[in-house]
Amino acid sequence: MQGINSNDQANGLHTMNSMKPVKVISVTGGKGGVGKSNVTVNIAISLAKLGKKVMIMDADLGLANIDIMLGLRVTRNLSHVLKGECDLEDIILDGPDGIKIIPASSGTKEMAQLSEMEHVGLIRAFSSLTSQIDILIVDTAAGIADNVISFSQASQDLLLVVCDEPTSITDAYALMKILSTDHGLFRFRIVANMVRTTTEGRELFAKLSRVTDQFLDVALDYVGSVPFDENVRKSVRKQQALVTLYPNSPAAIAMKNLATKIIKWPVPKTAKGNIEFFMERLVQGSTLD
Ligand SMILES: Nc1ncnc2c1ncn2[C@@H]1O[C@H](COP(=O)(O)OP(=O)(O)OP(=O)(O)O)[C@@H](O)[C@H]1O
Ligand SMILES: [Mg+2]
Repeated sequence: MQGINSNDQANGLHTMNSMKPVKVISVTGGKGGVGKSNVTVNIAISLAKLGKKVMIMDADLGLANIDIMLGLRVTRNLSHVLKGECDLEDIILDGPDGIKIIPASSGTKEMAQLSEMEHVGLIRAFSSLTSQIDILIVDTAAGIADNVISFSQASQDLLLVVCDEPTSITDAYALMKILSTDHGLFRFRIVANMVRTTTEGRELFAKLSRVTDQFLDVALDYVGSVPFDENVRKSVRKQQALVTLYPNSPAAIAMKNLATKIIKWPVPKTAKGNIEFFMERLVQGSTLD
């Protein structure tokens, strides 16, 4: 964009790449199968279409990995980087609309066992990515595993995907409880997925807020809802993103709406906003837990 104001120029352009703020968002949910990976992928592509440089970090070593969803071939992953067999750059995949993907691997779990030297190496490797990205979206695993907590702690924003099912609500509650009472996180941004109507989404948010208001010291923000839409499953089966394959489907339009809200979230201007800091918190978090 032209016409950058002089403040930005002074603060931003003259600083080193590693100081460029990157927005880091973790997508969690507590329960499995609520739509975390689909929300991650489609929001990422929608943000890219809005002009942002986006990277996905697949921190879930489950079955439905991001690379499979997008029909990409993975040969090496973070565990190879950690073993020194290749560079971080070598494992990054190119997805649709210029998005980049760090594929899933046991590496995200192994971070807890890294030596100090390896920590530093990894943090350096990640900080070199800073110039390539504006937004990093981390797709986390279901449950309350250590690495879900570490990623949540290291991120600036937490997107919690919930469905209108008792187990989704109780699992989301359990996750918020542990993150707020034991890890000092209090702000959660809620996406209601697979709703029948927008009203159902709002009611789900209200239901969740009622319980958290009563028992937890947390602040919930409603980002919006995504309707239940068969096109989501179809796109997964075809190994392409919903917003690419069915851009005018109800769920795709909803995903795009979420992205237009997310793009307005403030980006931290301090050093805390850089990716180096994210990685530091990530590796430190995992060793301390
Ligand atoms: N809005 C939707 N409408 C219809 N189906 C959906 C919707 N969102 C997700 N799904 C379907 O639900 C299933 C689970 O979605 P997804 O893999 O994104 O969930 P997840 O939370 O990442 O699961 P996991 O915990 O296993 O990683 C998929 O088959 C997907 O197609
Ligand atoms: Mg998933």
